[in-house]
Amino acid sequence: MSKESIDKNPLRGMRDFVPQDWIFRKKLMRVWEDAAEKSGFVRYETPIVEPLSLLERKSGEEISEQIYNFEDKSGRKIALRPEITPSMVRIVSSRPDAFPTQGKVYSIGQCFRYERASLGRKREHFQWNIDIVGEKNVVAEAYLIKTAVEAMEGLGFGADDYKVRVNSRQLVSDYLEKIDIVGELAKGVMGVMDKKDKISPEAFAEMLAEIGVTGEQTAEINNFMAAKSLEDLCQLGLKDSAGLKALEEFAAYCKALGIENNVVIDPAIVRGLAYYTGIVFEAFDTQGKYRAIFGGGRYDNLFEKLTGRPNFAVGLGFGDVVVEELHKEKYPDETTVPEADILLGGYSEEVREELLGVFSRLRACRFSADFDFKPANLGKFLTRANKRNAKVAAYIGEIESKQGQMLLKNLRSGEQQTVMLDDDGASAAIEQMLAAKSNGNCI
Ligand code: HAM
Repeated sequence: MSKESIDKNPLRGMRDFVPQDWIFRKKLMRVWEDAAEKSGFVRYETPIVEPLSLLERKSGEEISEQIYNFEDKSGRKIALRPEITPSMVRIVSSRPDAFPTQGKVYSIGQCFRYERASLGRKREHFQWNIDIVGEKNVVAEAYLIKTAVEAMEGLGFGADDYKVRVNSRQLVSDYLEKIDIVGELAKGVMGVMDKKDKISPEAFAEMLAEIGVTGEQTAEINNFMAAKSLEDLCQLGLKDSAGLKALEEFAAYCKALGIENNVVIDPAIVRGLAYYTGIVFEAFDTQGKYRAIFGGGRYDNLFEKLTGRPNFAVGLGFGDVVVEELHKEKYPDETTVPEADILLGGYSEEVREELLGVFSRLRACRFSADFDFKPANLGKFLTRANKRNAKVAAYIGEIESKQGQMLLKNLRSGEQQTVMLDDDGASAAIEQMLAAKSNGNCI
């Protein structure tokens, strides 16, 4: 590599998106927007840079250590957001009049985390956030998960492809209290519980021992984390736990919303972010190959902590990375070049004006038309039209030009015809070939 040449790769953990990536990306954005808006969520957007003080938490969470931060030219401490939640709290609190009373809000934006890049984990990702502000009852959690399930359905994933694993932080605290683990130690234990599926049972026991948990307590924590249902949890003596009651009520709402097959109870889910206070959940692919597809929970203290004014809140973040991998695996054929209705081209620059006239009429009719600037012979042009993923190739060769004609080829069926270029003959024939509905006046 010469001294002047650039490195053609993006920074480690960052992504470039080439045209064929946009087939899925456009679908994903549309599905996220539709799922949110059709269930009453309204959109907000905030900058990707925020004051470091808004984003960093002093509780020693992993996410605080992963922040990309820097000083701007005036010496302000600035950071690229690792998540959208603190910015959402900021905008909803600063502009309450701009948000309808129901408190259902959503956003789609890029987040940055200085993480070790691996399968499904990057240093930047786009995240769909849906949050419900101001609702105390767990109906909000069920409603939120229903919205995410609809997005998964919109992308072609059913209950067999993934499960939303649900737990309650309150339930975990109630259980830990039962086995004499409270206060700071309980917080530490939850931090270790969150890492359990990434480490060996021995390492898990060791990490617990290091923070002062006895062998007996570790065995009980393992028992708790292995529970598979609300009944199992009752058996562990948690019948009167407020956390268990909340989960029971939540399960009833899930049934009413028809998502009971998408959701499972899993006491091993605690979530890495410290701000959650109640129900927490994460959705995983059933093969167990990737990190979470989406995750969230109730965080009733964050508004007060950041703004001094309490407010109830539940929310989730749904990243683009894992779901894109899953989509590629399930629908490998959907990843091609974006489709065009038609590609127009000719043998020489002399027919450019005729071609542009047809192009313009097709665009006025809302067809997706593409224009090939480079003259070519028919064989070359058809190769390009196929590569361009056009449904119809429209070509003016030397002979067609002399006779005032245009050659049309349907690249899906192979059907071919020659049409007159006069008036609107060509665009009418193209429309017929595309079998599209016309409003009657367009051509
Ligand atoms: P989170 O679990 O940290 O939650 O992230 C949510 C989702 O973002 C993950 O499930 C994953 O899909 C995606 N994600 C996170 N980090 C990465 C990464 N390094 N590479 C690829 N994808 C990633 C939050 O961020 C919370 N703020 C969500 C929330 C909203 N809670 C309440 N409201």
